[in-house]
Amino acid sequence: MGKEQKLHVPLITPYKMGNFKLSHRVVLAPLTRMRSYGNVPQPHNILYYAQRTTRGGLLIAEGTVVSDTGIGYPNIPGIWKKEQVEAWKPIVDAVHAKGGIFFCQIWHVGRVSNTGFQPNGQAPISSTDKPVIHSNDGSHFWQPRRLSTEEIPHIINDFRLAAKNAMEAGFDGVEIHGANGYLIDQFLKDQVNDRTDEYGGSLENRCRFALEVVEAVSEEIGADRVGIRLSPFAGYNDSGDSNPEALGLYMAKALNKYGILYLHVIEPRMKTLGEKVKCSQSLVPMRKSFSGTFLVAGGYEREDGNNAVAKNHADLVVYGRLFIANPDLPKRVELDAPFNKYDRSTFYTSDPVVGYTDYPFLDETDIASMSYQRNRG
Ligand SMILES: Cc1cc2nc3c(=O)[nH]c(=O)nc-3n(C[C@H](O)[C@H](O)[C@H](O)COP(=O)(O)O)c2cc1C
Repeated sequence: MGKEQKLHVPLITPYKMGNFKLSHRVVLAPLTRMRSYGNVPQPHNILYYAQRTTRGGLLIAEGTVVSDTGIGYPNIPGIWKKEQVEAWKPIVDAVHAKGGIFFCQIWHVGRVSNTGFQPNGQAPISSTDKPVIHSNDGSHFWQPRRLSTEEIPHIINDFRLAAKNAMEAGFDGVEIHGANGYLIDQFLKDQVNDRTDEYGGSLENRCRFALEVVEAVSEEIGADRVGIRLSPFAGYNDSGDSNPEALGLYMAKALNKYGILYLHVIEPRMKTLGEKVKCSQSLVPMRKSFSGTFLVAGGYEREDGNNAVAKNHADLVVYGRLFIANPDLPKRVELDAPFNKYDRSTFYTSDPVVGYTDYPFLDETDIASMSYQRNRG
């Protein structure tokens, strides 16, 4: 065989994200898997993340709650207690041992919770006292208690401490979860936020909480280790906005002031969690307005992911469900190999293996034959 001819795959090209040298642009999405019993990461999480690690690949850990009021689902990990920080360490070490770059998604669900998850059976907290009526999955959520203005700095401090703890656990940085109808989004969106203080009303006021979290976390660990995820166009958990374009643009521009590492945005086509629809709205204006690294997520496959990079609509492309089912997703993208299908029924079950670490990898014979076919041209 002659000299290897490499197929040009835009997703498999290097990218420098601040101080991090990425070898490709296929990113593991934050994915709640509900396998952290009692809100503490478990040894089986090590294999799951290690399987999805590549040298120079970026992984975003599942939503990890910042305090005991931040819980809204069973067996999601936390990072407010020493025990949780210690339990994250071997997971982070395993990712680092394989050369991965690992960010922790820090999360507070706000009103997407019920009294059963809350300390002392209290009501969940939010920007509002309006309950979620239409949940993503039919769960029943409790009427929340509206945070007083004076309480807000304490919640911001919980994010700050969580970021500090994430650094102690060895993570390379944190992603602030400002998407999908959870606490930060409950402040951002005008369909939820009905406050009359400086955290509600105007666009500027609704964005204040998110930006104060960004500021606090950046001060704590350095803006070069901070990303944020937003979903201005989505309405999950009753969190729609009357002018998502304006909200997205305002946030993209305002974030520049803090010099954070990245902005990660869910595509407008993901109107509901899980289904993509045809849609004329685009993230390009946000991409153009933000000066750091821009990540996109939502319904991506190989071709549109490559196009997003080739057209400079994004620096990095984030994969969720395909990465659940394909632990070696970057390799499959590189070789144009078929994808395993995901099994939705095991996304949120608690088994430490089934639907979690038992999806097959390409085997060496497949890889050799695909490389051979490709190199023949
Ligand atoms: C099982 C599952 C768990 C998820 N958990 C989170 C999460 O913890 N944090 C988050 O921001 N998004 C979460 N999402 C949304 C994904 O990160 C992603 O945006 C979504 O799946 C769309 O991307 P995809 O089409 O590549 O799957 C979750 C999605 C799924 C399917």
